[in-house]
Amino acid sequence: MNEVVVKVEKLYKEIEGRKILKGVSFEVRKGEIYSIIGGSGSGKTSITKHLVGLWKPTSGKVWVFGKEVATLSQRELDELRKNIGYVFQEGALFDSLRVWENVGFYFLEHTNMKTEDIKKIALSKLKLVDLEEDIMDLMPSELSGGMRKRVSIARAIATNPHLIIYDEPTSGLDPITSRLIDKLILQLRDKTGSTAIVVTHDMLSAFTISDRILILRKGEVVTEGKPEEIVNSTDPFVREFIESGFPLRDRII
Ligand SMILES: Nc1ncnc2c1ncn2[C@@H]1O[C@H](COP(=O)(O)OP(=O)(O)OP(=O)(O)O)[C@@H](O)[C@H]1O
Ligand SMILES: [Mg+2]
Repeated sequence: MNEVVVKVEKLYKEIEGRKILKGVSFEVRKGEIYSIIGGSGSGKTSITKHLVGLWKPTSGKVWVFGKEVATLSQRELDELRKNIGYVFQEGALFDSLRVWENVGFYFLEHTNMKTEDIKKIALSKLKLVDLEEDIMDLMPSELSGGMRKRVSIARAIATNPHLIIYDEPTSGLDPITSRLIDKLILQLRDKTGSTAIVVTHDMLSAFTISDRILILRKGEVVTEGKPEEIVNSTDPFVREFIESGFPLRDRII
């Protein structure tokens, strides 16, 4: 349970003179649901880009599954990415591909598997996110926003990754669909023992599903802790953040 899956140490990122991350450190352990919350532009997505090797640190280090991401060869990075499911902030389904092709994209691109076998995998992943066979041949444009999110989660888990990164999984969804996504994140962790990092603005979601929460402000960590620790924080910024986005304090403790 205490195995460290992600370790971020004094991560600084600067782009064209703009300091985006200013010394972020944290660790995520196996099986945890770890949420990163913070205002728009605080650097949440930027952190995740370092975890999958899309960005290299200006300074500091990032390890995933014990490997320092910035030092990996392309082949090692491909191997690492196969083991990380990434649910992109914008959903990022391929508009010209059918649902099953989106979910089975990795296998279409990287293997010689037969279509029927890829379809079988796609269907089993769609079922995990509560979708049915009848949407397999639809195009993303024919789905609702909530269904698209679920298809992107199905695609992210297609290769049975041990780490899943969700970037704003509930943004733009109605409260009922948002709670359904929360439930899915919890169920996936429970069924597969995978670790999850959830980037979110949704305070209710963060406090409901997380084992621990990190609060980020302008590229710096304000605080980190269990939901009950965060909710009782006396830090003025944390209080303001909680009270503006989360008037439901009494419901979770
Ligand atoms: N490719 C890029 N080039 C230069 N600056 C960037 C780039 N991507 C992000 N930034 C800057 O980095 C900062 C953090 O952006 P990031 O996308 O990490 O924020 P975020 O916390 O995910 O915000 P949101 O909640 O709006 O998604 C912002 O100031 C943004 O302008
Ligand atoms: Mg973002």
